[in-house]
Amino acid sequence: MKTLDLAKGGIHKGQARPGWRSQLDQLVDGWMTSPGFYRWAIGNPITRWVTRRRAAQLFQLMAGFVHSQVLLSCVRLRLLETLRDGPKTLDELSQECHISSPALQRLLHSAVSLRLLEMRGADLYGLGALGAPVAADVGLRLMIEHNAVLYEDMRDTLALMRDEIQPHMQAYWPYMNGDKPVSWEADKVARYSELMATSQRFVIEELLASYDFSQHRCVMDVGGGQGGWISALGQHHTQLQLILFDLPPVAALAQARFQANGLGGRATVHGGSFISDALPKGADLVTLVRVAHDHPDATVKALLKSIHQALPAGGMLLLAEPMAEATGAHSVGDAYFHFYLLAMGSGRLRSPEELKTLLKEAGFVTVVDIANPMPLHTRLLLAQKN
Ligand SMILES: C[S@@+](CC[C@H](N)C(=O)[O-])C[C@H]1O[C@@H](n2cnc3c(N)ncnc32)[C@H](O)[C@@H]1O
Repeated sequence: MKTLDLAKGGIHKGQARPGWRSQLDQLVDGWMTSPGFYRWAIGNPITRWVTRRRAAQLFQLMAGFVHSQVLLSCVRLRLLETLRDGPKTLDELSQECHISSPALQRLLHSAVSLRLLEMRGADLYGLGALGAPVAADVGLRLMIEHNAVLYEDMRDTLALMRDEIQPHMQAYWPYMNGDKPVSWEADKVARYSELMATSQRFVIEELLASYDFSQHRCVMDVGGGQGGWISALGQHHTQLQLILFDLPPVAALAQARFQANGLGGRATVHGGSFISDALPKGADLVTLVRVAHDHPDATVKALLKSIHQALPAGGMLLLAEPMAEATGAHSVGDAYFHFYLLAMGSGRLRSPEELKTLLKEAGFVTVVDIANPMPLHTRLLLAQKN
């Protein structure tokens, strides 16, 4: 497994920050971990608010696994969907959920404290600010349910990192095991393709909001799944010819979708593996959406080269996926994606700089960031062939 490159700003791995800064670091570490520090910091009116804030943040970290189980319980009980139609009392919800009032009340109060629900009157529970987006989006609910698979693998995180367990996530994603697609169970393929299709909505909105597709003639989506992105693109840009490339069993699902939604005449589907097969030519833009992070560097390099070969001179590649923040930056998503991809088996979360290096090694000359409204789910890079 490749280690992350933490070298930054001319400092080499293992080397401390220079001069006064590293002495100050050492002093602060010693001071903040000394036995009297907490008592001093909480007793001092100037530092008290920082101390309280840090204590709350640390408590959030410690209790995070309980919080995500509260969210999962709300999803499994369909509480958020039920409350979309209006607030309900504890007894009404207790009857609907088949859980005794005293036990359910603990869940409801926990959910209120996490802003998934809110009190709309005495004993009246309604949707909270963080529950509303979950109630509105089936893709989000499917992802929350799917996270139960990752939760299993993270019971013993040390065993996961030491490669001592067979992660459930690898069984969920059959293409991570190197199995031949012909031996795959159809229900596994349909299950992961459905999860991708329903969770793709956010990414599709990011893509449509951030890039002008009207300048292109033909777009090929590599690893395009069931064709949700190609369908949305075809509906928004009726001038475009469309190509989808994915493993044969997935390509068959996309083909059926295009027949059903009337895109059959404009969208061509190719079944194959980008590891062993050449990509079809003809597109002046290739999109690679949530694909590269599943694979090791060698596979991504070969895939990017293959895309480069399939494009005409001046052709472009738009790569969209979650990306790592610069080392040292605080990020909401990085810990999740680092461990998700570790459990999955062979990919990793890469920073924009790492992806740019891979793109340049594959032959792309210019690579630029494309700003998008919600960089949490995905960020965008645009690469051009000379
Ligand atoms: C994480 S999913 C993303 C699907 C879609 N782009 C999206 O964002 O919803 C990765 C996709 O890559 C496809 N894939 C994985 N390995 C592949 C290979 N060797 N050749 C072609 N497609 C592959 C999978 O079948 C799957 O549809």
